[in-house]
Amino acid sequence: MSVTVNTENNVFLLSTASTSYAFGVDDRGLLRHLYWGKKLPSAEELEVPSLTEVSTNDPVFEITPGEFPVHGGLRYKEHCLKAAFADGTRELVYQYCGYDVEQEENWEKLVVHLKDDHYEFCIDLQYLLYPAYDLMERSVVIRNQTESPVRIDRIHSAQLHIPYENLNFSNVHGHWGAEQQRFTQKVSYGKIVIENRRGISSHNHNPYFILDRDATETSGEVYFGALRLTGNFKGIVEQTPYGETLVQMGLNDHDFTLELTPGESFQAPGLLFGYSDSGFETMSHNLHHFARKELMRQELKPVLYNSWEATEFHVTSQEQIKLAHKASEMGAELFVLDDGWFGERHSTQNGLGNWYVNEGKFPNGLEELVDAVKGLGMKFGIWVEPEMVNPKAQLYQQHPDWIYHYETRVTDTSRVQYVLNMTKPEVREFIYNMLDNLLTRYDIDYIKWDANRPISQTGPQTDIWCKHIQTIYQVVTELKKKHPDVLFEACASGGGRIDYGILGIFDDFWTSDNTDAYDRLYIQDSYSTVYPIKAMRAWVTDCPNFLSGRVIPLTFRYHSAMMGSLGVGCNILKFSPEEMELSQRMISQYKQIRPVIQDGDFYRLENPSANGYFLYEYLKDDQGVIFAFLPQSKVGHRGTTVRLRNLEENEAYTVYTSQGEVVKSGSYLMYHGLPLRLAGDYASAVIRFEKKHTQKG
Ligand code: DGJ
Repeated sequence: MSVTVNTENNVFLLSTASTSYAFGVDDRGLLRHLYWGKKLPSAEELEVPSLTEVSTNDPVFEITPGEFPVHGGLRYKEHCLKAAFADGTRELVYQYCGYDVEQEENWEKLVVHLKDDHYEFCIDLQYLLYPAYDLMERSVVIRNQTESPVRIDRIHSAQLHIPYENLNFSNVHGHWGAEQQRFTQKVSYGKIVIENRRGISSHNHNPYFILDRDATETSGEVYFGALRLTGNFKGIVEQTPYGETLVQMGLNDHDFTLELTPGESFQAPGLLFGYSDSGFETMSHNLHHFARKELMRQELKPVLYNSWEATEFHVTSQEQIKLAHKASEMGAELFVLDDGWFGERHSTQNGLGNWYVNEGKFPNGLEELVDAVKGLGMKFGIWVEPEMVNPKAQLYQQHPDWIYHYETRVTDTSRVQYVLNMTKPEVREFIYNMLDNLLTRYDIDYIKWDANRPISQTGPQTDIWCKHIQTIYQVVTELKKKHPDVLFEACASGGGRIDYGILGIFDDFWTSDNTDAYDRLYIQDSYSTVYPIKAMRAWVTDCPNFLSGRVIPLTFRYHSAMMGSLGVGCNILKFSPEEMELSQRMISQYKQIRPVIQDGDFYRLENPSANGYFLYEYLKDDQGVIFAFLPQSKVGHRGTTVRLRNLEENEAYTVYTSQGEVVKSGSYLMYHGLPLRLAGDYASAVIRFEKKHTQKG
């Protein structure tokens, strides 16, 4: 049992492999946080202190660690829940009413029932434990059992308490073409807020927090959490004057209220969280394992070719077929036809909403291309942007009321498009039917679902910020029920939609429109702190790169993209025989190491050199791969030392270097390390190694 309840003193102790979390019910029926950190043996030693006031200006609610602070009373710190009742009361006063425990193979769930003192308004705090992954997840369900509507002004999934000050906080900043730029800052007095107000999890901040005590990859305490939400989120980190740091995450209350009609309930998105006393590597592994095993599909991701950068909107059946031939010659397993195949889609100006095949571009129908792709033994994928409509499209002309807008205002366009109000049943039905028809009529294996603008002018509804994305989750889930073999890729102008909410719903994720192989090293490194490698699509594209203008050798570009789920986006019709031959070799090598890359454990290795090497290791059972990059040498000809992680000390490993095979012990490779010297700008190497099997006999 991972949930232990000491009924003597009302203490709940939740434990996973190496972490414990505890709270209790105090003498007033309020939940008090007691502990989060390294595993504790039993609930016996934990006590719930009774509430005593220290000074009138430090009200008791302020100095006590509330497990789920609600709005009201002498509470001035951030609250998780604020409700307004029909009579104007904007205060919650809850009482503890009991608990339930439920157990399944991979998880255990504790539900703590709270109820308002006066109103028939219930709050169920949910604690999900995933012992095998050393992770927990908190969420809250609220139920309006009064006779009148209740307005919810804020709902955060949880508050977590860290018993330290001066922590380091990490997240990402960024923008289009520069997602996942990691930053770390010291937490001091006051608050740090990360959020998104655009309706997607966004290029800017990402819905997770990492708080550490000067941890490194392999040492030190790290407290972390990731919100399972793709829409507007908010995360607040607050170092209080009382010697602790609080974190809350949940739905953003910016421009948001939710009305619960009598009898209605609502569940806030889960906040997945964990603790590591051995640095960031353990944090990443726990999250990656959970994502790979519990959320994602088990099969390996195909090597894809996407024609976007080669042809942009100017697609024709004949040219796509030529590209398909080249893609298959190279070794691609999936051919994706991107934007431009439908309606009057010749640029960003028109077409979105008119989801019929453009006859001028496909005079013999889409079947001609699909058949050619299938005939070449590849899967077929297609791009859509279902949530959007161009003002000129027939769909908008016929249904001007289907978009988010205000009657008295000029409606915003961005990339010449409006956003459809997905929460309207008729819009949801239109989108579902459009995709269902597409998947039923054509032999499609892969949908790339794009979204190229933020949401604005949401009309009178103030709950669309969560309901829009919930509808997308539902539509995709339903489509997958009917078309179970189809893979769905989430893309939002590049990497605008990756988070632990969408991770289980979609299958593939476009990391960034920035395909510059050097910039990608930073993006991918940062992405890997929270998201698994299998969820990181990376393409090789042409040089000079359209964004950076950089020219990088094709080998380095391949190596950088091989760190994730490999794709190619070059205009391969222009490839020289040498480029084609190199591509064939790289793709074939990728297929060989793919199980280790996509299903192995990923290690960000230390670089002891003054030269800026990027060093990574992938390890799955007896097989491993090292990636080494040296974008530019700074200090003469210095090499580096690759100290591998997590090998077996007394086992021998064969390392396949460019100079030949080397056999070394696990201890040597981990502690002494493998000397490596790359030379020249944009030098890179992929080195395979494996545990040596001793001959029996
Ligand atoms: C943005 C995506 O990130 C690109 O990969 C491409 O699909 C374009 N949209 C198409 O409009």
